[in-house]
Amino acid sequence: MQNNVRPESMERITTKALADAFIAEQVEAVRKQVGDKKVLLALSGGVDSSVVAALLIKAIGKQLVCVHVNHGLMRKGESEQVIEVFGKELDANLIYIDATDRFLDLLKDVAEPERKRKIIGGEFIKVFDEEAAKLEGIKFLAQGTIYPDILESDGVKAHHNVGGLPDDMAMELVEPVKLLFKDEVRVVGEALGLPHAMVYRQPFPGPGLGVRCLGAITRDRLNALREADAILREEFDNCGLAEKVWQYFIAVPDFKSVGVRDNKRYEGWPAIIRAVNTTDAMSATIEEIPYAVLHKITDRITHEVEGINRVLLDLTPKPIGTIEWE
Ligand code: XMP
Repeated sequence: MQNNVRPESMERITTKALADAFIAEQVEAVRKQVGDKKVLLALSGGVDSSVVAALLIKAIGKQLVCVHVNHGLMRKGESEQVIEVFGKELDANLIYIDATDRFLDLLKDVAEPERKRKIIGGEFIKVFDEEAAKLEGIKFLAQGTIYPDILESDGVKAHHNVGGLPDDMAMELVEPVKLLFKDEVRVVGEALGLPHAMVYRQPFPGPGLGVRCLGAITRDRLNALREADAILREEFDNCGLAEKVWQYFIAVPDFKSVGVRDNKRYEGWPAIIRAVNTTDAMSATIEEIPYAVLHKITDRITHEVEGINRVLLDLTPKPIGTIEWE
């Protein structure tokens, strides 16, 4: 196996030709490592696990077993995209688990952000473990570890990752992109034929919409958040901001204000827009969204999303505001 240090001589993968050469090399290496054994992968639909899945499908086809756990906190259309791309187009061995009820039942009445994160992370491991136990002959665990994960493994972000799996799984690791930086993983993903939107998608926290449905999560408010977020993403796509802004999303707090709709009092939650730019997520600046775009988004969210009656814009840089609200 490779060790964990990127050699100085390793060229940065910036072109399709370099990506193709990397892919060919890794396909060989993976085949040599796993032989005819099976490999398990937790496929979240994020950039890193998706690229690893596509690479391993190319190398070992159905020997790869992908497990996609839908924790009910995905953005609109995300699990569907995983099923479409991996289950249908790439014909992967994909196990889809809709664990929405398990997660939302456990999260009921839990308002404290770190407890929410722990519940989501802990339950994710449980669901994944249960699935792994049902499968026979799995000898390897694939992971979308990338080079910054190795460089930062001193703990700053360690608590973040919901996909962190227990060490006692007694499986040998397969980590084909562990010496790559994010931009290189993306070039490799495109060379593997993954959709542009999947490979260039914005970062999304492991606990998903769970940390954006502020306070104790309820299904109706989570649903409103998911719909409002989908509108924001659609409008950012339409005006070109999606390509430019590092991370953008909606947060919905757990209080209502008075409004009026169809001449009647209409109480609803506010949707808060957050759109930030950063290079390392340690500090962030605010994207200046044109007013016309803000008006359009406000109009659509307040008319199309049940339960939302105001749209607010978060102008706070990091520091002092973190990127997420919880
Ligand atoms: P903050 O809110 O700390 O976020 O400024 C910095 C970046 O980290 C992401 N983030 C998370 N990612 N699990 C993750 O995988 C988490 O619990 C988590 N919390 C924040 C956040 O989306 C931003 O990109």
